[in-house]
Parts: sequence; structure tokens; C-alpha cells
Amino acid sequence: MEFRAHTPGDSLAIESLFTSVFTRSEGEQEGALIGNLAKEMMAGTDSQDLYGFVADDGRQIIGAIFFSRLTFEIDLDVFILAPVAVDTDHQGMGIGQALITHGLGEMTRKGVRYVTTYGDPAFYSRVGFHPVSQNAIEAPHALSQPEGWLGQSLADDPIETIPGHCACVKALDDPAYW
Ligand SMILES: CC(C)(COP(=O)(O)OP(=O)(O)OC[C@H]1O[C@@H](n2cnc3c(N)ncnc32)[C@H](O)[C@@H]1OP(=O)(O)O)[C@@H](O)C(=O)NCCC(=O)NCCS
Repeated sequence: MEFRAHTPGDSLAIESLFTSVFTRSEGEQEGALIGNLAKEMMAGTDSQDLYGFVADDGRQIIGAIFFSRLTFEIDLDVFILAPVAVDTDHQGMGIGQALITHGLGEMTRKGVRYVTTYGDPAFYSRVGFHPVSQNAIEAPHALSQPEGWLGQSLADDPIETIPGHCACVKALDDPAYW
């Protein structure tokens, strides 16, 4: 199993992974939505605003994760982890947590100071995330599940608050995801 940065040649496999995983976990509509999100992210985001990593078993891509830039009113490198998926037949084997940990390590090496995500606190707390108040760090859209707004500092000096309005990349800038 290799964890590596995604390349343009991976795009179709990554889109199809997100579509099939989310179709099987949450239904056809959600599968199409998240497959399209991955496609739009890869096609429409500046390279300095997007980092993607895949888990490659030598035959196929069995996991994928994206980190895209969040912009606040101060100059700080902040990214959001979304989406992430592991092939349905390979779930529950530790690949998801290892892929997230790999991605966070790469973000740290690139000097990213803070990473947010929006998901199940029970799962993401295993990889260092904790609940964040929207008063401390704003989300880009109104959240249907505010308890799912999570974050973690990657810097030595922990960040608790980030002032100002939050903007996400174009692909994520749709209330349907929030
Ligand atoms: C979430 C996901 C990426 C985790 O990858 P994985 O390789 O299955 O995870 P791991 O094997 O590292 O960890 C599995 C553990 O996490 C738990 N877990 C997995 N998905 C979870 C979820 N959505 N909520 C809470 N816990 C979850 C499992 O119950 C398991 O717990 P256990 O070890 O006590 O049995 C993967 O299950 C997946 O792609 N799910 C469907 C898509 C999704 O929900 N993506 C995340 C939202 S963007």
C-alpha cells in the first residue's frame, strides 16, 4: 500500500471512487453529489489551494482525500479536509485513518497551520480533530450539523480562534455540502 499525491491521471478513478463509496453508504443522490464535488475540485481549483492524496495498492486506487484552502481575513494557511473515502470492500482495515494521518503530515510539512473538517466527531477525534465553535472559527456556510464542525492545529503554538469571514474554494461553495 502506497500513499502518494494525486496526479491528473488519477482523476477519473478518484471521481468514480467517491461516487461508488458514497452511493453505497448514503444512496445514489449523495454518491453523484460527492463524485461531482471531487471532479469539480480537481478541475477547478488552483494547485496552491488543493492537495490530494491517494491510497494505491499497486493495482487500483482504494482511498482518496482532499484538502482545500479556506481563506480568512488574516493571512494564515488554513485548509479543510473534505471529502475522504475508502473503497467499501477495504473499509475498517485502518486505511482511512492512515490516509488522513498521512495527509495531515504532508500539510504540516507544507507549513499549513490549521485544518478543519465537517463530519462525525466520533471518527475524526481518532485523528486529532476536536469540536470547534463557529464563533471561534467561522464555517464557509450555515451548517446543518454544527456539532460536525471540527478542527486541529498543526502548528506548535495552538490556534484557538481565527478572526473574520471564512471563504472556501469554488467547488465547495454550495449550501448542498453544508
Ligand atoms: C470514513 C472512512 C473514510 C473511514 O475509512 P476506513 O478505512 O473505513 O476507517 P478505518 O479502518 O481507519 O477506521 C475504522 C473505524 O472508524 C469507524 N468509522 C468509520 N466510518 C465512520 C463514521 N462515518 N462515523 C464514525 N465512525 C466511523 C469504524 O466504525 C471503525 O471503528 P472500529 O475500529 O472501532 O471498528 C470510510 O469508512 C468511508 O469512506 N466511508 C464512507 C464515506 C464517508 O463517510 N466519508 C467521510 C465523510 S467525508
